[in-house]
Amino acid sequence: MNSATVSPERIALRGDLLDFVAEPGWGEVDSAAVRFRPDHWLLVDNGRIVGAQTQAPDAGWERHDHAGKLILPGFIDSHVHMPQLDVIASYGTELLDWLNTYTFPAEARFADPAHSQAGANLFVDALLAHGTTAAVVFATTHKVSADALFRAAQQRGMRMITGKVLQDRHSPDGLRDDVIQAERDCVELIERWHGVDRLAYAVTVRFAPTSTPAQLAMAGALCAADASLYLQTHVAENRAEVAWARELFPEARSYLDVYARAGLLHRRSVLAHGIWLDDADRAALHASGAQIAHSPSSNLFLGSGLFDWRAALAAGAAVSLASDVGGGTSLSLLRTMGDAYKVQAMAGQRLTAWKALHAATRGAAQALQLGDEIGSLEAGRVADLCIWDWAADPVATRRMQVARGLHERVFAWVTMADDRNLVAAFVAGVPRHRRGEPAVRSQLA
Ligand code: GUN
Ligand code: ZN
Repeated sequence: MNSATVSPERIALRGDLLDFVAEPGWGEVDSAAVRFRPDHWLLVDNGRIVGAQTQAPDAGWERHDHAGKLILPGFIDSHVHMPQLDVIASYGTELLDWLNTYTFPAEARFADPAHSQAGANLFVDALLAHGTTAAVVFATTHKVSADALFRAAQQRGMRMITGKVLQDRHSPDGLRDDVIQAERDCVELIERWHGVDRLAYAVTVRFAPTSTPAQLAMAGALCAADASLYLQTHVAENRAEVAWARELFPEARSYLDVYARAGLLHRRSVLAHGIWLDDADRAALHASGAQIAHSPSSNLFLGSGLFDWRAALAAGAAVSLASDVGGGTSLSLLRTMGDAYKVQAMAGQRLTAWKALHAATRGAAQALQLGDEIGSLEAGRVADLCIWDWAADPVATRRMQVARGLHERVFAWVTMADDRNLVAAFVAGVPRHRRGEPAVRSQLA
């Protein structure tokens, strides 16, 4: 590894530290869950946070003075598609047509290992350039795409959860797998990557309509054999999709129940969307410990619907935030939070900056059973963190100046900021993205 990417043992970062010590309540603007430590030094030893203090540390620490800037835990994108950068902002379709018209052809190209590796490198560097230091990611059906993504994340020291997509029906040539080969591929990928460095395998069912009952059963058996595996899929995103799932699985009580019956609902399950769920579904989510990856940008762009965050919360189901690129139009979780606020506003609800930021940091980490590793600036956590400008243009600067109180200021920041505000992203104490500098990718062997 290039020396520029190796962490000195002890670094200290100065800035305004913002993280959470508990889950903020719905609508709670003054929340004891928020920990704001203005103008502190965050101490990082050997890639881990070891403390924070107001006084400058001694010369034994390499000092990075970002006074007047914001320091947050790196964002966690709980649902995003590596092979879909090429289809962001594709015009004119709802989900099922969008998949057939744009997405499946783009994903078919990832059969080529060189295309997969270039795509994975671009994707992972783009995550970092948007302040996302950990993610739960769909590769494609091709084993090489998952290999490429694991490799790209490993080279950058990132926490990454991904897997090859399972889809053995209702899919075009070039994307369809079959149960036997898919199982072999999964087993091989699990052996090669699961639990290696900061990588974990997710059994990745595209969605119920593109898997046969036999394939769903195989996915369930993989989960049953190893409780440390994750499961990711889509559920109840679009009304036509829901109707199709009901038609294909008439024995199930609901679309979500298809997954429950196959043994795919557990505490490491991440289900994207969940717009068209009912109370029994939400109770099943709570009972299983599975989480919903709320993807407001995608839900608005594809016209899928408005997610009822409050109902999920009332049922005790965990909700994290996700870009869902390429249905979503930006990798920025700040833009995603802005969209999430607007979705709740359409339902007469208000999403606080605290609830949004928590869902993208500590909340996601806990829902992924990774709360001891990521999601906060607590001593003992891995130093995955980002340094942000409070304002990146004169209008935002003015807005910050007139903000009264911390929530008003942070809410305006969340609403107005994006990747242009990102100064640097650190992964395990190593700067992996610095504004204006070429991606670390260019320094990799
Ligand atoms: N449902 C099945 N596949 C996909 C996908 O790639 N994106 C979204 N948003 N929904 C899906
Ligand atoms: Zn998706």
